Amino acid sequence: MDYSKLPKTEAVPEASSMIETFRAIGYNLETAVADIVDNSISAGAKNVYIDRIWEGGNTIITIKDDGCGMSSDEIVEAMRPGSHNPLETRAANDLGRFGLGMKTASFSQCRKLTVISKKAGYHSAYWTWDLDYVALTHKWELIRWTPDEYADAIDNQKSGTMIIWTDLDRVIPPSTSVSDIAAKQKFSDAWARVKSHIAMTFHRFIESNVISIYWGENIIDAWNPFCLSEKKTQIFPSESLYFGSQKAEVKGYVLPHKNNFSSEENYRKAEGMYGYPAAQGFYIYRGKRLLLAGSWLNLFRKEDHYKLVRISIDLPNTLDSEWQIDIKKSTATPPISCREQLRSYALDVRNKGMEVYRHRGKILKKKAGANFQPLWLEKKKGNKWSFVVNRENQLIKNLQEEAKTNPVPAINKLLRIIEESIPTPTIFIKQSSEENLQKEPFSDMDISLIKEMLCRMYDNLIASGQVSEQAKAVLKTIEPFNNYEDLIEEL
Ligand SMILES: Nc1ncnc2c1ncn2[C@@H]1O[C@H](COP(=O)(O)OP(=O)(O)O)[C@@H](O)[C@H]1O
Ligand SMILES: [Mg+2]
Repeated sequence: MDYSKLPKTEAVPEASSMIETFRAIGYNLETAVADIVDNSISAGAKNVYIDRIWEGGNTIITIKDDGCGMSSDEIVEAMRPGSHNPLETRAANDLGRFGLGMKTASFSQCRKLTVISKKAGYHSAYWTWDLDYVALTHKWELIRWTPDEYADAIDNQKSGTMIIWTDLDRVIPPSTSVSDIAAKQKFSDAWARVKSHIAMTFHRFIESNVISIYWGENIIDAWNPFCLSEKKTQIFPSESLYFGSQKAEVKGYVLPHKNNFSSEENYRKAEGMYGYPAAQGFYIYRGKRLLLAGSWLNLFRKEDHYKLVRISIDLPNTLDSEWQIDIKKSTATPPISCREQLRSYALDVRNKGMEVYRHRGKILKKKAGANFQPLWLEKKKGNKWSFVVNRENQLIKNLQEEAKTNPVPAINKLLRIIEESIPTPTIFIKQSSEENLQKEPFSDMDISLIKEMLCRMYDNLIASGQVSEQAKAVLKTIEPFNNYEDLIEEL
C-alpha cells in the first residue's frame, strides 16, 4: 500500500483509561512480584531483597537488586509501556517478553510504581508512575518522586535497582488502619504465598547459586517440585518434543508414597502451596524460570490418584509464541503438533503414579507372595465390576465358625472388619477410569434371599402387634428393601 497518498489523523491512546486497562491483566500478588524478580535476574543481579513495611493502607512493598542498574534516561525508557519489541530475539537468559512486565505487574497491585536505580559510575536516579496523577492530567508523564525514606536506598551500592510499590489498593483497602489486626493477618497470609511462589518459581536459580533471594532478613530456600533428594522418587527418561529445529524436553517424576518419604515433614513440604492434588501435572520452564506449575494443560483432569505425578517441560525462550506464553508468564498452551506425544508420555508416568499411590495393598501382597489372602476380591460379571468379600479368607472362615456358638459378637466383628477394610482407594480409581461399568447395587442379588428376609421381618413386625400396612411402610424405609417395593406389596 502506498501510505504517502492517504490522509492521516493521530489516534493516541488515552492515558488514564489505557493505564487502567493494564491493571486488569490478571496478575496476583505472587505472580506480580515474580515478574519484578525476573527483571532483576535479567539485569545480572546476584542478590534480590524482597521486603514490606506494614503500615495498613500505606503499606510499602520493595524489591531491590544489585544488578546492572539504569541511568535516569534508561529508567524513563524502562517505564515506557512496551519498552522492548517482543519480536526481537532475546538473549537465551532474558526473562522479559513484551516490555510490559514491570508496568503491568506493578499496576495490577498498586497505584504508585517508583523505580530507583543506579548504574555503575552514575548517581542514582528515580522516577514514578502515579496513576492518580495520570488520571488527573490524562498525560503519559512520570513524576520525579520517591517515598522519602527510600531516596538514598541504593546509594551505597555500586549498581542496582529498587522497585517500590505504594498505594497498594489492590492488596489492602486504602483506608485500612495500621492497627487493624484482621487486615494485617490477611496481608501476612498473602505475603506468605508470595514467598512460597518465589521459592518455587526461581528454584533452579537458587539451587545453581545464580542468585540469592532474601525475604526480609532471611534467605529463601529453593522449593523443587520433583523431590530429587528423596531416594524413592522415580525419575523417567526424558523425551524431546521437536518444533522444526527447536526442541523441548519432557521429564516425568513420581514422588514417593507418603510412607516412603524420608520424613513426615518432608512429605508435607513437598505438597507445595495448595496441597498434593493441586500440585500434580506439568511444570513448564523457560530456561531456569518456572512459568506454569501443576497443570495438565487440558490433556487430563486432576485426580487424587495422580497426585504424586509431576512432569517437567523445558522450553527454550524462542518457543514463546508457539506455546502461547502470556504476558504474566503464567499460562501456556502446547502446540497441537506435540499434544499427542505429550499425552502418551504423560500416560506412562501417570500409570506409575497411580501404582505408587495404591502402594499399601501392593506391599502387603508382595510380602505374603502367592499365599496372600485378601479380604476383598474384584469380581467381573459380563463387563461389570464389583468388589466382594473373599469367603476363603481364613479370618472370615473363623468368624463363620465362631458364629455357630457365639453369633452376636461374631457378626459384630465381621461388620467391623468390613467397615475397616472396604477398598475405597481402589474402588475410587476404578470408578473414575471405568465410570459406567460399576455393577449397580443389588442388581444381581438373589431375589429369593431378599424375599426370605422380607417375609421374616414382616412376620416379626406383625407378631409385635403392627397391622399389615404399618409393617409394609416400615419395610419400605429399610435399605435394601426400599429397592423392592413390588415384593413388599406382594406380602
Ligand atoms: N531491576 C532492573 N534492573 C535493570 N533494568 C531493569 C530492571 N527492571 C527493568 N529493567 C529494564 O526495564 C525494561 C522493561 O522491563 P519490563 O517492563 O519488565 O519488560 P521486559 O522485562 O519484558 O523487557 C527491561 O527490559 C530492562 O531494560
Ligand atoms: Mg520484565
